[in-house]
Amino acid sequence: MTAFALAIGVGSKNSNGDWLEVFYQQPLLHPADDLIAAAKSALDYQGGNEALEVDGGELLAFAEAIEATYPEQAALARACTESEKPVVVTVLASDEQASSTPEVYLKLHLLSHRLVKPHGINLTGIFGLLPNVAWTNKGAIDLADLPQAQLQARLQGELLSVNSVDKFPRMTDYVVPTGVRIAHTARVRLGAYIGEGTTVMHEGFVNFNAGTLGTSMVEGRISAGVMVGDGSDLGGGCSTMGTLSGGGNIIISVGEKCLLGANAGVGIPLGDRCTVEAGLYITAGTKVQVLDDHREVVETVKARDLAGKSDLLFRRDSTTGAVQCVTNKTAIELNNELHANN
Ligand SMILES: CC(C)(COP(=O)(O)OP(=O)(O)OC[C@H]1O[C@@H](n2cnc3c(N)ncnc32)[C@H](O)[C@@H]1OP(=O)(O)O)[C@@H](O)C(=O)NCCC(=O)NCCS
Repeated sequence: MTAFALAIGVGSKNSNGDWLEVFYQQPLLHPADDLIAAAKSALDYQGGNEALEVDGGELLAFAEAIEATYPEQAALARACTESEKPVVVTVLASDEQASSTPEVYLKLHLLSHRLVKPHGINLTGIFGLLPNVAWTNKGAIDLADLPQAQLQARLQGELLSVNSVDKFPRMTDYVVPTGVRIAHTARVRLGAYIGEGTTVMHEGFVNFNAGTLGTSMVEGRISAGVMVGDGSDLGGGCSTMGTLSGGGNIIISVGEKCLLGANAGVGIPLGDRCTVEAGLYITAGTKVQVLDDHREVVETVKARDLAGKSDLLFRRDSTTGAVQCVTNKTAIELNNELHANN
């Protein structure tokens, strides 16, 4: 059976020798069997999911074994023989739950390299394997080691700048996928999936296991687990409801060619070509008046009943305050659609 993933990485450890993070320049999804065979012969890989810490001699042997068939991986292995930092070859025989920090980092890289889509990889238990790290201009530093590192820098007349304290680093320090603009790189975490053609503006945010499938203008927040379809725009400061806290368990997605207005929010999945008025937050339980094409109220439903439906415009009636859903379709058609799954 083909293995799930393989990657050569350079990482950082704390003063206790625990991994803090790993950078994989060229992660491979479903590596060829002969790469796995080379890992077995050169690196003593015994099978299963393993993060093999390797020395220069092992890397050289691995490079020689794969030179003819995988010259880019071989060149990377050779470059890593010179590393001052620990080098790891991580092999995932399967996508089962990760059991080490290098394994989690490989999974996050697979997402940000667009090799797997959000929800397409097992991220169970990753928080417990990701240390909280000071991300500095000198790289990752364990919080326990930080005061000493800060003093050392000062004594050398330098400033150690802490950019963030978090379990996830910014994505762009690990990979910049092709065809994207990211105005404020700290707002996109490693593990985000940023589609070709997407622009993330300063107010935009993209969490891990979340992102855009194609061209999008992101000026709002894409919470963990949320996917946004091609051609959809997220207006300034808008919100997509996540499932990490607060009891929400509906996975939010936005279809193609949607517009979430500025400061709008969605707590239900949207179909294609939907619009949410600026400033309107739709939660699953929001009571929504459904209007027909004569703008008459035909019924009142909960927003969750409209989940995933296409061609809807949500707005708050500015005179009555009622949340309304306007559609181009006739009320009869909409009714049928609404109740089709009952
Ligand atoms: C909801 C929204 C899409 C409606 O825009 P629209 O379809 O162009 O609608 P219009 O403003 O042309 O209004 C059409 C009619 O609906 C009425 N209307 C619009 N919004 C209404 C509201 N909230 N309550 C009551 N009536 C409303 C208008 O008064 C107008 O009535 P009329 O036919 O009697 O003249 C728009 O207001 C909006 O919020 N767009 C989001 C833009 C945005 O935030 N982009 C991101 C920037 S970062």
